[in-house]
Amino acid sequence: MANKRKIRRIGILTAGGDSPGLNAAIRAVGKACVGEYGIEVMGIYDGFRGLIDKHARLMALDDFSGILTVGGTILGTGRDKPEKMRMPDGTVRDMTADALRSYEEMGLHCLVCLGGGGTQRNALHLMQAGMDVVTLPKTIDNDIHGTDVSFGFDTAVSIATEAIDRLHSTAESHQRIMVLELMGNQTGWITLAAGVAGGADVILIPELQYDPAIVAESILCRSRRGKRFSIVAVAEGVFPAAEAAEAKRAGTELPKRDRRTEGPGSIVARELAQMTGIETRETVLGYVQRGGTPTARDRILATAVGTRCAELLARGKTGFLVACKGDECRPVPLEEVAGKRNLVPVDHPLIESARAVGICMGDEL
Ligand code: F6P
Repeated sequence: MANKRKIRRIGILTAGGDSPGLNAAIRAVGKACVGEYGIEVMGIYDGFRGLIDKHARLMALDDFSGILTVGGTILGTGRDKPEKMRMPDGTVRDMTADALRSYEEMGLHCLVCLGGGGTQRNALHLMQAGMDVVTLPKTIDNDIHGTDVSFGFDTAVSIATEAIDRLHSTAESHQRIMVLELMGNQTGWITLAAGVAGGADVILIPELQYDPAIVAESILCRSRRGKRFSIVAVAEGVFPAAEAAEAKRAGTELPKRDRRTEGPGSIVARELAQMTGIETRETVLGYVQRGGTPTARDRILATAVGTRCAELLARGKTGFLVACKGDECRPVPLEEVAGKRNLVPVDHPLIESARAVGICMGDEL
């Protein structure tokens, strides 16, 4: 962590997938910096590309009013990486030096980046190039290393839980297996939490490879006990055990989800229809999980990390993620955060609870 010159002006940007709570966090940083600590705030549009293009404006205190409950981000976001910027002609260029020059030309003393795992990496890259940065933990995936939780996660879980609740009535009416595919890039946090909260009968997450035969048998057991429907919650990053084992044997990475190909929800639904003979339908909840107003918990989390960020900036501190640790928000050096992913531990207590209430996790009956 750096403790350098007095910070009198910051830039703030949102990067990566949008998420409920982003505007609550922008509001907290802005109100505290401008209203409490007398630090100027430059709002930077559309992520790191806006930094490079100096697409930004000085924000007044009033700009932070009325956005606490608003979904998305008033600054816009993007997935551009400073060192791999896509040019209009399709080439890719390292624009790190351009980012540093824009940062200096805007008179910034620190860049505050609200983002997920990719943003933590991008922020560390800029820090190692000489920029003062601070990050906040934003992502519905809850996969940022070094923090107990990220804002956006609670809202996504609430939305997914409501979807599972609603699928129960149609599944029971039609005596069907309903498969719900949920977001979570390469981790199963949303699916595990919403599956337990919504009373799913099967939960499939990337951290536990699943065996279709085990899932089918668990559903047939339900049928034999007179249960006329089943709900299966599937994380978008799951792979069948056989495919995962093959990749492991070949020493290759499992492919990152390609949205142009058939997703796991459809694959699992087809497998279960064939293996059980029960009518099956699938739903991909997708971007609904990232939309709309944040829950109270996410508003509180975003406000806590945003105001803590401003307090640390006022003390001249930079070079860290403002992490949620229990009831506190603490700075964690970016070097310890970037490049690591917070996976669901295979012995996580919530997995044990799921099994204890009879939920099949796809790996054992
Ligand atoms: O990182 C958040 C997330 O919503 C993931 O859960 C999902 O896989 C990804 O973003 C989708 O990315 P995009 O918005 O670029 O399609």
